[in-house]
Parts: sequence; C-alpha cells; structure tokens
Amino acid sequence: MAAALEQAKRGIGQTSPNPAVGAVLVVDGEVVAAGYHRGAGKPHAEVECLAAVRGRVPARAVLYVTLEPCSTVGRTGACTDAIIAAGVREIVVGAVDPNPRHAGRGIEILRESGAQVRSGVLADECTALNEAFNKWIRTGVPFVIAKCGMSLDARLTRVPGEARWITSAAARRHAQQLRASVDAILVGAETVRADNPRLTVRGVYQARQPWRVVLSRSGRLPRTAIVFTDRHSDRTLVFGRTTIRSLLRQLGERDITSVLIEGGGEILGQALDARAIDKVQIYVGGIISGGAVPAFAGRGAATASEAPRLAGVSYQQIGNDLCISGYPEWHERPTAK
Ligand SMILES: NC(=O)c1ccc[n+]([C@@H]2O[C@H](COP(=O)([O-])OP(=O)(O)OC[C@H]3O[C@@H](n4cnc5c(N)ncnc54)[C@H](OP(=O)(O)O)[C@@H]3O)[C@@H](O)[C@H]2O)c1
Repeated sequence: MAAALEQAKRGIGQTSPNPAVGAVLVVDGEVVAAGYHRGAGKPHAEVECLAAVRGRVPARAVLYVTLEPCSTVGRTGACTDAIIAAGVREIVVGAVDPNPRHAGRGIEILRESGAQVRSGVLADECTALNEAFNKWIRTGVPFVIAKCGMSLDARLTRVPGEARWITSAAARRHAQQLRASVDAILVGAETVRADNPRLTVRGVYQARQPWRVVLSRSGRLPRTAIVFTDRHSDRTLVFGRTTIRSLLRQLGERDITSVLIEGGGEILGQALDARAIDKVQIYVGGIISGGAVPAFAGRGAATASEAPRLAGVSYQQIGNDLCISGYPEWHERPTAK
C-alpha cells in the first residue's frame, strides 16, 4: 500500500475534481505493475495499473489501491468491472470512498464477484492524501487553506519596492507547492491594487493554473492588473459583495474542491470570523514590519473558547523563516476555571 501511495502522490494537484489515487499489482511479493490517476477524464489508477500488466493477470496477483474502486460509470467505466474482467481475485483497499452515496458499494460488488477484499490498510495516510476532495464531495464546499507571509508582529504590510517581501525567496518557493495543490486562489481587491500579484504556479509542474478569485464590493480594480491581462486571464473570476460562506458554496458548485486564501488581512479575517478555514499555513519572516495590515483582521473571537486552536501543528524552518501549518479546531473548548 505504501507503494500505491507513492503512485497516488504523483497525481496530487492534477486530478481535481477527482481524488488522487494510486494502485500497484503484486505477484509473489513483487510489484509487477503500477498506475495512478493522471487527471479527470483519464483512466482511473486501477485501470492504468492493470493496463501495464504484460499478458494475463496471474490468479495469485493482489491489487493494492489507495481508494475504494468506483462502482459507477462516469466519464470512464466502473473500475469494479475492469478489476473483475481482468480476473483479479484479491484486492487490498486503503480508504473507503468518502462519497456517502457510494461508500462501501465498490467493495461489496467485488466481494459479490467472489474476490477477497481487505480494506482500511494505511487508511489514515490514504485519506489524508485527499483532504480537500473528501470535504468537497461530502459537503459541496471547498477545503479552505489560509496562507500568508507575515512579520514577527503578525503584519502583512509590505513596503513598496524591490525588497518588499516579508519572507525569503526559499519560503516563497515552498509556498508555490501549496498553490500547485489547489483549484483556486482567493484574494481581496486591495491586494490586487497594492501588489498587482500574478497568483500563478511557477517553478512547479502544473498542467492547469488554479482559478484566481478576486473579491471586490466596489468593482474598483485596475483593468491593467496582471490577473486580467496575462495569458491566464480566462482563469480570473471577480465576485462582488458576498459572504465568504456564500462565495465558497458558489465555488464548490463550479467543481472547485480547494481554495487557498492568500490575503489580504481583511479577507483572511472574514474567513476566520466565518469559521470557514480548514487549514492554515503561515510563513513567519524574521522581520518586524509594523504598519496597518494585521494578518487576520476582522471581529476576532468573542470569548477565549471561540478562538480556534491548531491541531496537527507542524513547524518547519526554511532559512530564516518559519512555516507553521495546522488545522483549526472549531469546536468550543471548555475554558480554564
Ligand atoms: N504578506 C502577505 O502574504 C500578503 C498577502 C496578500 C496581501 N498582502 C498585503 O495586504 C494588504 C491588503 O490587505 P487588506 O486587508 O488591506 O485588503 P484585502 O483583504 O486584500 O482586500 C480588501 C478588499 O476586498 C474587498 N472585499 C472585502 N470583503 C469583501 C466581501 N465580503 N465581498 C466583496 N468584496 C470584499 C473590498 O474591495 P473593494 O474595496 O474593491 O470593495 C475590500 O476593500 C496589501 O498591503 C498587501 O500588500 C500581504
């Protein structure tokens, strides 16, 4: 299953609105074929893997797949049919299908065909691989990552000019990986007016640029801004007055499964107040910038118990910067007496 996971990782950021999935076929303890889902409309991982087998699948072969095989015909045929037709008699599944309408159905069909199926192997790892898809398929709402580069005094304020960055080039390169993994990047109009950002994936392979979503109540946006004039301008969407929750629902309806909020402080603050953030990734630069733009402006928590604490926190030093990521826990915690 670890080998199947490695396969799945090759598809991360390329498969939306489908999940990243990997598969390997093992005969006598040896991987004889492997495959992963390369993108929506392309063959699923199991089918890729079985297509890579030379000759017939031996009766003693075991198929490992990170996600329960699909049992419905979509843009491609049902994987359960392909597995049964190939004569695979033993299947090991990582995560069960997170779509409540299909969960367990693929496993059931394979068992009914007489195959032996084991599920839940490295299930946590297999599930974590598709955290965005898993949320979107259950709720219709994209998975939201809040990201910013902030100073030691929690400001986003940049000074104009060449050396305007709060974090180092290495930290910004690191953040490109995050961009490459999402379907859309969201910013407020003031960020477009102040920074004229490109909001594209650079230096990391990405078959398709993420959507760029700009929020503006006034509609006062420079027509010459890069997001409206570069060769990806057809990937820029502007939304007028709305709430973060309503915006996210609208993006989810467009098959956008993940949104990276890159600022500024007003938009990050609204997302925090709306409890709409699933994950944060904050780059802290070794600089004290002061200034008017706090990283998360907005109302703030009314009580200590309302302020989310982070679970699954990781701290990574990147040069002189620190990357902190984690998952806000939105349930209320009992306050200390
Ligand atoms: N260090 C970093 O990682 C980073 C990242 C991004 C930005 N920044 C900095 O942050 C500053 C900008 O941040 P900011 O907090 O001032 O502004 P912002 O969050 O980028 O944008 C605020 C604007 O977004 C629009 N808006 C806000 N809520 C809206 C809603 N609910 N519906 C529709 N539109 C809405 C409004 O635009 P209208 O005024 O057009 O109505 C509002 O003025 C800049 O200095 C930039 O350099 C830093």
